[in-house]
Amino acid sequence: MNMIKAKDYKDMSRKAANIISAQVIMKPDCVLGLATGSSPVGTYEQLVKWYEQGDLDFGNVTTVNLDEYKGLSRDNEQSYYYFMHHHLFDYVNINPDRTFLPDGMNPNPEEECARYEEVIRSVGGVDLQLLGIGHNGHIGFNEPGDAFETMTHCVTLKERTIEANKRFFASIEDVPKQAYSMGIRTIMMAKKILVVVSGEDKAEAVKQAFFGPVTPQVPGSILQMHPDVTVVADEAALSKCDLV
Ligand code: F6R
Repeated sequence: MNMIKAKDYKDMSRKAANIISAQVIMKPDCVLGLATGSSPVGTYEQLVKWYEQGDLDFGNVTTVNLDEYKGLSRDNEQSYYYFMHHHLFDYVNINPDRTFLPDGMNPNPEEECARYEEVIRSVGGVDLQLLGIGHNGHIGFNEPGDAFETMTHCVTLKERTIEANKRFFASIEDVPKQAYSMGIRTIMMAKKILVVVSGEDKAEAVKQAFFGPVTPQVPGSILQMHPDVTVVADEAALSKCDLV
């Protein structure tokens, strides 16, 4: 695991954007696995800037997102579809037909999860998967549990995740209780993984996921078993780890 120390959120975002840029430059028709949430927003902002400056071309890039709330339509401002368009897709020259997310409006989990796995398979798998990590160590919406969930599945969100995500909704009742998420196996099949993490509130999760035992109680800990993981973490997120 390659642990890159960043000074703060901005520095983390620039470093992560550099890694994604390198991927796009080295393989213009690559498949990027993307995440939502606060952690990657600065990374997307930086990518948009470099695109505007003419340094990046997304014309042949394909994207697959980690997850989507079940029951939210694409035009719902809290849907991950909306998030991705608002933070990245609408501002770069990516072909919208080459951007994929689970369909939150498909009421049939079995059908939707199988469809999404097939999408990932048909684009040839993920070259670089971007991840954030939750306070409880979740990746995607893979919550702590007794076993690692494998493939794309329908998740019932934990209380702490609903609590953390309520900041984006009018009230906690509006936060969807379920989501479709890539599974641990789906994520681990990516050729490369890039984790961005920032802030003191994530320090415990970082310590447990990257320096603790590998356990389904801390889903992100499985990343220790992946052959090509880069974590870009800021000083605050690393504050509970003894790094020289
Ligand atoms: C987002 C996702 C989540 C977030 C995690 C951290 O697509 O799958 O696992 O990465 O909840 O969220 P933030 O970055 O908002 O702290």
